[in-house]
Amino acid sequence: MRKPIIGANWKMHKGTPSEAEEMLVEFIPMVKDIKNVDIVIAPPYTAILKTLDTVKNTTIKVGAQNMYYEEKGAFTGEISPSFLKKIGCQYVILGHSERRNIFNETDELINKKLKKALDNNLIPIVCIGEHLEEREKGNTKNVIKNQFNLTFDGIRKEQLKKIIIAYEPIWAIGTGRTATPEQAEEIHVFIRKIVEDEYDKDTAEQVRIQYGGSIKPSNAKELFNKVNIDGGLVGGASLQAESLYQIIKAAEK
Ligand code: 13P
Repeated sequence: MRKPIIGANWKMHKGTPSEAEEMLVEFIPMVKDIKNVDIVIAPPYTAILKTLDTVKNTTIKVGAQNMYYEEKGAFTGEISPSFLKKIGCQYVILGHSERRNIFNETDELINKKLKKALDNNLIPIVCIGEHLEEREKGNTKNVIKNQFNLTFDGIRKEQLKKIIIAYEPIWAIGTGRTATPEQAEEIHVFIRKIVEDEYDKDTAEQVRIQYGGSIKPSNAKELFNKVNIDGGLVGGASLQAESLYQIIKAAEK
């Protein structure tokens, strides 16, 4: 049985320590009795230390939204996996569609980052997903397969089992237009089948696949009820304690 995981991707919001703390102080008591859902908060870099400090006596884990693949050096503006690990982050989001589309990140770059994140014992949350035009042309599965093959190139079975895959259809992100549970489930089944074909059945059954894209308290339950949807990566609705809590409640099995 896979444990659901909810990631709060704060994107470029709540970047000051006081903003992060204010939200978390309200949120932490709400989730104190949640047992069978993993919770990850991914704030902007500038609020990571405060977030780590605020959640330190809870089961809530902290992640970064990005990183570079080098350990150190002349890479102005970048953050290394070992920095994240050493300060206490356990997760890192990689290949988010905003990184791919706004900052031109390629599957090959994400693959390099993924390997370094694993080398540093960070748990990567790796995002894949299609554009609206690709879906409308009936190309969704080709796009997903291609992204999977390039992004996970060279990743071993034991490594894949630790990775969280986030299926985030780009047309559903920040648009209010959620994939229907059936649309999401169809692609989650497809991704699990790719894992089975490329690795084996056991790996496919173990790997957790989150859905992301306009998750709200009102649609979370029907998405998470689907057998192959193991929680979600939440943007806008993760910024308020109450809505994030409601989404986490919806993921409890
Ligand atoms: P929204 O929940 O705001 O649509 O964002 C989804 C997302 O991109 C999570 O990574």
